[in-house]
Amino acid sequence: MNDGSPANARKEPVLSATALRKAYGRVEALRGADFELFPGEILAVIGDNGAGKSSLIKCLSGASSPDSGEIYLDGKKVTFRSPQDAKDAGIETVYQTLAVAPALDIASNLYLGREIRKSGLLGSVLRHMDIARMRREAREHVNRLGIQTLQDITQPVETLSGGQRQAVAVARAAAFGSKVVILDEPTAALGVRESAQVAAIIKQLRDHGLPIVLISHDMPSVFELADRIHVQRLGRRAAVLSPQTHTMEDAVAIMTGARAA
Ligand SMILES: Nc1ncnc2c1ncn2[C@@H]1O[C@H](COP(=O)(O)OP(=O)(O)OP(=O)(O)O)[C@@H](O)[C@H]1O
Ligand SMILES: [Mg+2]
Repeated sequence: MNDGSPANARKEPVLSATALRKAYGRVEALRGADFELFPGEILAVIGDNGAGKSSLIKCLSGASSPDSGEIYLDGKKVTFRSPQDAKDAGIETVYQTLAVAPALDIASNLYLGREIRKSGLLGSVLRHMDIARMRREAREHVNRLGIQTLQDITQPVETLSGGQRQAVAVARAAAFGSKVVILDEPTAALGVRESAQVAAIIKQLRDHGLPIVLISHDMPSVFELADRIHVQRLGRRAAVLSPQTHTMEDAVAIMTGARAA
C-alpha cells in the first residue's frame, strides 16, 4: 500500500491504532481498521456513508471502546474508558454539534469546565472566578493560534457567526496542552466564507505544530488542506493517499470501490 509519504517511514506516529474491531449487534462498523497520525500533519479521513469513519473517531476519542485492537498515543498503548480519559491524555474532539454555551462570552467558553479560580479562599471556597486573568489568557491564546476572526474576547458567543463559533470550539480544543485535535465535519453546516475561515484556522493550527484529524466529505477542501488522506471503506483503512500523488477522481474511485487501492 502506498503510505502517501515516504518521509513518514522514519517518524513515529503521535496517534495510531491497529486492527480495531467494533460491532453494533450484527453490524460490523470496524473490521480491523488501522490508523496513523504523524506529528505536525493534517490527516483527512474520507469514506462513503457507513464506512466507519465516526466509529473509528469514537474509538480514538474515548466515546466508545473497540471490541478488539489497540490504540497508541506517543508510542504507548492506551485504553480510554470515556471522552474525559482521552481529553486528559491530550486528544480533543470537536463534533459537528458544537458544545458551546451561547450566552457566555468567548473567553468563558474557552475556559468552560476549567475556569481559573481566584487565588486564596475567594477562589477555593467561594469559587470566585478570575475573569480578568481568563480574558487576558484567552486573548493571548487566540492571538497565539493566529485566529483573526475573533476580535473581541468579551463578545457573547450567541452573537457570533457560525464560522466564528466553530473557531471558538477549535480554539478551545487547541488549548490546554492538547496533542491531537480531531474535527468531525467542521464545515458541514457553514457557508462559503465561514468554511474558508475555518479552513484557515485548521492550517494555522497545523503550522503551530498541532496534528489534526479532519473528517470531511468535502473533497475540494480535503485536497486543499490535507497532507495525507486516510480512505475508510467497509470498516477498514483501504488506502492512504496524498494530494501530491492522487487526484480527487482517484480518491472517489477508491472510496466507492470502483477501483482497488
Ligand atoms: N450506535 C450504533 N448502533 C448500531 N449501528 C451503528 C451504530 N453506530 C454506527 N453503526 C453502524 O456502523 C456502520 C458504520 O457507521 P459510522 O457512523 O461509523 O459510519 P460513517 O463512515 O461515519 O458514515 P457517515 O459518513 O454517514 O457519517 C454503519 O453501518 C452504521 O449503521
Ligand atoms: Mg459519520
